[in-house]
Amino acid sequence: MDLMAEFPDGHFDLAIVDPPYGIGEDGKKNHSRGKAANPTLYTPKTWDRQTPPVEYFEELRRVAKHQIIWGANHMMEKIMRGSPSWIIWDKENSGDFADAELAYTSHDRAAKIFKFRWNGMLQGDMKNKEVRIHPTQKPVALYRWLLANYAKPGMRVLDTHLGSGSHAIAAHYAGIHLTACEIDAEYFESAKARIARETSQQTFL
Ligand SMILES: C[S@@+](CC[C@H](N)C(=O)[O-])C[C@H]1O[C@@H](n2cnc3c(N)ncnc32)[C@H](O)[C@@H]1O
Repeated sequence: MDLMAEFPDGHFDLAIVDPPYGIGEDGKKNHSRGKAANPTLYTPKTWDRQTPPVEYFEELRRVAKHQIIWGANHMMEKIMRGSPSWIIWDKENSGDFADAELAYTSHDRAAKIFKFRWNGMLQGDMKNKEVRIHPTQKPVALYRWLLANYAKPGMRVLDTHLGSGSHAIAAHYAGIHLTACEIDAEYFESAKARIARETSQQTFL
């Protein structure tokens, strides 16, 4: 809320946000997500106890012309908007975890499905496997797809809950001006190091 208060109405072309879903996915659970592997252990935290207040969604609509909100199915009573244009990320999970995640969008267009496996050791792009540093990390590939389909190079995009920094890595390669914040100092430092590491390499086609 402090960050958004710094910006005038409609400053951002788009907000892509992934706030707490209020389901306790903040590091206390076993996040191995694959039975053959040792579990990845994260520092237990408490940030996923509740979803943001109604005022957060009002402020998001004030500063950003469009919004994409992950986990919106957990907070519809606060978003208070219908949409023809949901996004489904099909994680191609076959285990105990959710098969998909859902994002509300403010766009007036058809609903879309993005398929990308994200299941413990199994990832959609096994040649470029991502190191996981955060209990609810989303793949860079998901953000690259979102920015390719819902943004244009040069746009100003906001992310109020950066987490692992996947969005920032995708924004770097998509030519997007990303403004983002993360409240947890440990996540923030790990994300900064990861972003520096993963944007310093040259891309060979
Ligand atoms: C669902 S996770 C985001 C994961 C991210 N999309 C990724 O790919 O890594 C939510 C993040 O919001 C952070 N957070 C919680 N409350 C916050 C607040 N008030 N301001 C900024 N960040 C917050 C948490 O520390 C957590 O890292």
